[in-house]
Amino acid sequence: MKIEDLLRKEVKLLKPYLPSKSIEDVRKNLGLPDVVNLSSNESALGPSDVVKEALQAELKNIHRYPDSSSRQLREDLACQYGINTDMLITTNGGDELLYLLGSCFISLGDELVMGEYGFATYQSVAELCGGRIITVPLNNGHLDLEDMVGKVTEKTKIIFLCNPHNPNGTIFSHHQLEQFLSKIPISPIIVLDEAYFDFVESNDFPDSIKLIREDNHHIITLRTFSKIGGMAGLRIGFGIAKKELIDCLKKVQPPYSVNRLAQVAARAFLVDVDYRKRLLQNNRHGKEFLYRQFNRLNLSYIATEANFIFVDLKEDADLVCGKLIEDGVIVRSGKIWGCNSYIRVTIGSEKQNQQLIRALEKIL
Ligand SMILES: Cc1ncc(COP(=O)(O)O)c(C=O)c1O
Repeated sequence: MKIEDLLRKEVKLLKPYLPSKSIEDVRKNLGLPDVVNLSSNESALGPSDVVKEALQAELKNIHRYPDSSSRQLREDLACQYGINTDMLITTNGGDELLYLLGSCFISLGDELVMGEYGFATYQSVAELCGGRIITVPLNNGHLDLEDMVGKVTEKTKIIFLCNPHNPNGTIFSHHQLEQFLSKIPISPIIVLDEAYFDFVESNDFPDSIKLIREDNHHIITLRTFSKIGGMAGLRIGFGIAKKELIDCLKKVQPPYSVNRLAQVAARAFLVDVDYRKRLLQNNRHGKEFLYRQFNRLNLSYIATEANFIFVDLKEDADLVCGKLIEDGVIVRSGKIWGCNSYIRVTIGSEKQNQQLIRALEKIL
């Protein structure tokens, strides 16, 4: 029997995740020394020095298994958010949280509702578990919560609300979310994917922790240290929800999926107020700079609340991305979301943003 014949039907049909090119690939293949990656919304500052020191100190313990409950980290987070430690689960990146939700709650034929162009892992989780994704078109670039209400049926098990939305950085407000909750049944799991929460500047962004406490729906908030914490390579994120929901997820989580170094790094980041402040400041300045440059180049873009901008180049995005790579700049083509003339660019450091604009000027 061939190995393919042994595969579960859902796995056979699975489309692989297509990561963007890495800095190492581009350096090696094109022989370019100065490559910037503005495709994955990583921290523009590189890793925090405080985190690096903490990692160095922890190296002596890596022969030991990590604490499978991330107790100390959950205590730190609980203190920061004013919640109980049993309302927290740490995961191997926010991605693992999404897979745990799928493992716990999705069976063949269940429906998952998400906004158009949503984060790729939602689709992968649905496909792996035999669920069916129901995609709701965006309304003027925003998640259309009104329209989503109409898509919720008795088969709906999970609703993904990505806020800020990836790939365009738009948000919905606390009031909009309350309205949405008032119109849908209590049963589905509502995932508030707040991977980019820390970059939001708007005042009416949802207070998801308040809703978790006060609302009767099964709400879970996803957060990650990959973006604001500058540690995408360490793979650590977490979920906040009522204890009953957290307990379900713990049942299916492999015991040591959050490694020792990641736990230590996340704890160090939580006290590194300066890094966080500098990264947010860089994001604010970078956003203003890029908006100015896009205006000057007559390119339209969607106003963002995250650390990336969705820009309309009015040209074939794949073609432009290919040329940008030749200039040592990696960005994400909008084609993967069916937005053929858009690219998503991470807001980088001052130097990286300038390199992007110089390359775009040359190409366009
Ligand atoms: C919207 C969204 N959610 C979740 C994640 C998962 O992040 P990570 O697994 O790195 O914590 C990402 C990563 O890019 C994302 O963009």
